[in-house]
Amino acid sequence: MQKIGIIGGGIRGGMYAHSLRGFPGADVRAVCDISEPAAHKVAADFGLTPYTDHRAMLADEDLDAVIVATPDFAHRDAAVDAARAGLHLLVEKPLATTAEDTEAIRAAVGEAGVQCMVGFENRWNPAVRRIHDLAAAGELGRVLTQNILLSNTTHVPTRMIGWAARSSPAWFLMSHTVDAALWVNGRTVTSVDARGSRGRLAALGVDTWDVVHALLTFDDGTTASLTSTWVLPETMPSVVDFQFQAVGETSAVYVDLQDQSVRHAGPDGFRWPGLLGGEIDGRLQGPPTWMVQDFVTRLENGEPVGPGLDTGAVVTDVVLAVHRSLETGATVTVPARTAGIRTADFRTADFR
Ligand SMILES: NC(=O)c1ccc[n+]([C@@H]2O[C@H](COP(=O)([O-])OP(=O)(O)OC[C@H]3O[C@@H](n4cnc5c(N)ncnc54)[C@H](O)[C@@H]3O)[C@@H](O)[C@H]2O)c1
Repeated sequence: MQKIGIIGGGIRGGMYAHSLRGFPGADVRAVCDISEPAAHKVAADFGLTPYTDHRAMLADEDLDAVIVATPDFAHRDAAVDAARAGLHLLVEKPLATTAEDTEAIRAAVGEAGVQCMVGFENRWNPAVRRIHDLAAAGELGRVLTQNILLSNTTHVPTRMIGWAARSSPAWFLMSHTVDAALWVNGRTVTSVDARGSRGRLAALGVDTWDVVHALLTFDDGTTASLTSTWVLPETMPSVVDFQFQAVGETSAVYVDLQDQSVRHAGPDGFRWPGLLGGEIDGRLQGPPTWMVQDFVTRLENGEPVGPGLDTGAVVTDVVLAVHRSLETGATVTVPARTAGIRTADFRTADFR
């Protein structure tokens, strides 16, 4: 049985507690949130012990693993302290938002010899997985380009998360699509060109980028074009728009995850309820649920977990380059990660 603590009791922390309720091999014991009401709410909903300081949780509880679900810029302290306490980690994406935080987490995990999964949940999204599997099986031939759009309505940065001004569509959304592009292409990103705009969200009180476009160039000259915006109108029938096209030498594959085939015309408007979520007989379903359940099952079986630190570090490098290019208008070279990271074949090992 894996005894688990959750750090960050917001949307994701609560979702993980729900995902593991009654799941074989999982014993979620405690939740920590710097907001006392948030900690108490998740604790009451799922029968956990609440904490407001993760160090107190790590000291008082006998845990095997920790899930870090704090805001994008606040993963470091929780991850480093939990690793030093000898606990395995599931850290939400992005692993970190600075090179210093990435290195601190890598060092702590490496020294402790614990396992670390980074929460790139689209590895468990059946449609994205199918694109990857077609590419990995050689069905596309060489992957020449990918066009991936992942956007939200303004609901997400203005009302759903309270820290959007300290994040961006690149950190919150594009970290997913950078990971997906690397996973499908299987090669190293060498440079990034990004453009974007800002002003609309700032006028709504959230001073961050509205729109981010990024062109990733891989080491064999192939490309991926990523777009993420946080300014779709709230009249959209879904808060998420996710479209994915991969073009190979011999075939192309297209996915549109916005309209997941259920259309609901209700008294308050028209909705596209997603099929990749929700409950079946009280048990939560969907990619992040399957991801955290896989984390637990693998720990139980003594198997390696992934995608891990190497993936998380490379994605953070690329998103940092996206921001640098947005700010300077220049092409930004992505640093080659050497120190034991094999970036030549992202389809295997850490990028399984
Ligand atoms: N919401 C989503 O759809 C979604 C999807 C995928 C990944 N994520 C990622 O999950 C992470 C959490 O996002 P969220 O949507 O749950 O945010 P959230 O704001 O709902 O929850 C974050 C919680 O962390 C708490 N917190 C902040 N600093 C803390 C600290 N030092 N110690 C303990 N608690 C602390 C906050 O009080 C808050 O309750 C982010 O990295 C985000 O990118 C979110």
